[in-house]
Amino acid sequence: MLAVERLVVKYDELTALRGVSLTVESGALVAMIGSNGAGKTTLLNAVSGLIPTREGTISWEGSLITGLTPDAVCRLGIVQAPEGRKLFAKMTVEENLQMGAYSPGPRARVAESMKRVLELFPRLAERRRQTAESLSGGEQQMLALGRALMATPGLLMLDEPSLGLAPIMAAQIFEIIGDLNRAGTTILLVSQEVLQTLSIARDGYLLENGEITLAGPSERLLADQRVKKSYLGL
Ligand SMILES: Nc1ncnc2c1ncn2[C@@H]1O[C@H](COP(=O)(O)OP(=O)(O)O)[C@@H](O)[C@H]1O
Ligand SMILES: [Mg+2]
Repeated sequence: MLAVERLVVKYDELTALRGVSLTVESGALVAMIGSNGAGKTTLLNAVSGLIPTREGTISWEGSLITGLTPDAVCRLGIVQAPEGRKLFAKMTVEENLQMGAYSPGPRARVAESMKRVLELFPRLAERRRQTAESLSGGEQQMLALGRALMATPGLLMLDEPSLGLAPIMAAQIFEIIGDLNRAGTTILLVSQEVLQTLSIARDGYLLENGEITLAGPSERLLADQRVKKSYLGL
């Protein structure tokens, strides 16, 4: 289980997270929704050890991980698929996938993971000798997901996986994320796509201006008047 408690993150004078608490139970698919600038990416980067925290704690499976290096966090099985995908453009699909399995544990399982990911994404299997930059936006997102899965994550953190995709492709990506969770992967999904995100997640948090302003089962968030008005345009 991931447990974040009263986390505070600042960028110089700007307070990006003001005491954020959340939990992701093993096997869950938890959504964190919020508009641009709310602090969603900051939260994931703090959990990954990419940026320092000022106050509060982050723990994983009962142990404190606040202040660990990104590499140490990754070795614990916490894997982030970053916003904007960050693929290796000139490398092939297969090489990008191999890069996902660079730490010692996953490296020992690389053949098995490669087989699983290519079965999961037949499109990537067909294109495995092509460069990442030659793929469509949706295929690139599949590759970003596949690369994260190569690390055999205990917790998969996805940052805006549908950003920039055509609606039909975005819907497909959300469906794949739901399937991954049903197959056993614990997921923290960060997104501005409120309706689709809450449709696949069991529980959700609304992050506004660095604070959690609403938390609970997805149905309750979807029924909330503020969510309807500000995020669903109803
Ligand atoms: N590297 C940075 N330096 C300074 N301010 C930042 C940095 N990254 C993000 N911010 C600011 O922190 C706030 C939260 O940003 P971010 O976590 O990226 O939000 P979101 O992912 O929800 O769009 C915003 O006001 C943003 O401008
Ligand atoms: Mg972001």
